[in-house]
Amino acid sequence: MFEELEQSEFGTQEYWEKVYRSEVRNFRNHGDVGEVWFGEDIADRIVKWIEDNVSKSSHILDVGCGNGMLLVQLSRTGYLNLNGMDYSKDAITLAREVSSHYQASINYSVVDILSNIAYNDNYNVVIDKGTYDAISLSGEAKKKRDLYIKNIHKCLSDDGLLVITSCNWTKDELIHQFDTHFHLHDVIPTPQFKFGGSVGSVVSCIILKKK
Ligand SMILES: C[S@@+](CC[C@H](N)C(=O)[O-])C[C@H]1O[C@@H](n2cnc3c(N)ncnc32)[C@H](O)[C@@H]1O
Repeated sequence: MFEELEQSEFGTQEYWEKVYRSEVRNFRNHGDVGEVWFGEDIADRIVKWIEDNVSKSSHILDVGCGNGMLLVQLSRTGYLNLNGMDYSKDAITLAREVSSHYQASINYSVVDILSNIAYNDNYNVVIDKGTYDAISLSGEAKKKRDLYIKNIHKCLSDDGLLVITSCNWTKDELIHQFDTHFHLHDVIPTPQFKFGGSVGSVVSCIILKKK
């Protein structure tokens, strides 16, 4: 139904360490929080969906949180139990400095979601904006994608939700790939383009519910 993506540097930890090392410097020198992946419009749509559907006391994890700006936005709308995880040490340094700048209370940890740690956390919602995409671009991607899906499933409470945004996979590809552990719960509409008579989205944003 789909082919694996071609391996790229976006799938390596070294790449992200390099990116965030320089973003920490930029933030300290110029107050620039760095890249908002997929743009602010998509981030706003995700936050709006969460506000409309998820209670303020829910436990939320942003996996591969980068600079943590999505969590800062959620904190500003009143979410109380916010957590960010990233395998890049400098991403977490940046996220901590950014959240302190915005006086947002967020717990951060340096964790590889593919590592074999004990997942006893019971998150109601996991958010992924671009992390599954990065994993899909690594070596042995199929094996890592499967492990990612299993680990996210373990992180979630019963009926927990995964809010996933991807620019590499279509909505149908995501539903198919996660089918072993999740079913489709909702779709966040994203800007569409029309090409040769067929309509598609540049970015897919869907909500999956734990089976
Ligand atoms: C495209 S960036 C998106 C960052 C952030 N979610 C955002 O929207 O700005 C992908 C992020 O995933 C993180 N990442 C990739 N693989 C990971 C893994 N196995 N465990 C934890 N974080 C990972 C990278 O360090 C990077 O911060």
